[in-house]
Amino acid sequence: MTARGRFITLEGGEGAGKTTLSRGLATILEQAGHTVLRTREPGGSPGAEAIRELVLGRGGWDPLAEAMLMSAARREHLRKTIEPALDGGRWVISDRFADSTMAYQGDAEGVGAERCRLLTSLALGQVRPDLTLILDLPVELGAARARQRGETNRFEDKPLGFHERVRQAFLRIAADEPGRCTVIDASRPVEEVLEQARVALDRLLQAS
Ligand SMILES: Nc1ncnc2c1ncn2[C@@H]1O[C@H](COP(=O)(O)OP(=O)(O)OP(=O)(O)O)[C@@H](O)[C@H]1O
Ligand SMILES: [Mg+2]
Repeated sequence: MTARGRFITLEGGEGAGKTTLSRGLATILEQAGHTVLRTREPGGSPGAEAIRELVLGRGGWDPLAEAMLMSAARREHLRKTIEPALDGGRWVISDRFADSTMAYQGDAEGVGAERCRLLTSLALGQVRPDLTLILDLPVELGAARARQRGETNRFEDKPLGFHERVRQAFLRIAADEPGRCTVIDASRPVEEVLEQARVALDRLLQAS
């Protein structure tokens, strides 16, 4: 019987290096003999991608409605993409997951932690990531990196204060759930960020 895969999520603000790290981690895991599925939110399954277009395509959503849409997309993503992959023994790396809803809609947009926790528990049931890496860096640096990378989205266009709230919310989540979350100093060069992630990953690799 194939052993169930592990579920890793990458969180952090715009330009923190999540997508870059997702590629590097996939290489490490493949070298360790695992098959890997890289995915990202919002999106990651056909229905969730349709919701992504709705949510990122225009502004003006009521924040709770936006949190509900993100959670609906997450459930689709979980049921149609993530769980089948884990059941098939693949390791899954998701670029953003439930902590992003908590930080963006829950905190920075004011929906509140309690309502976000309720939505997450509805969307995910008992499933939680095995490991969450929170990429932390000063918001000015993240904004500069996102600009350098090219096109922006409507979240990236928000003022720095919004991004500062997001940053602090991620750090609070990490402090509340130290067993699941590891904070990575994302201001370091790419190779050092990857090394910090590898150290955090060792625990999972040794157990598998
Ligand atoms: N550790 C790093 N040091 C310097 N530059 C980096 C580092 N990590 C990523 N970058 C660069 O910063 C830019 C943003 O990185 P990346 O796209 O991985 O961030 P992201 O967190 O996925 O952003 P977004 O939330 O906007 O998708 C890219 O140009 C990338 O090459
Ligand atoms: Mg990205």
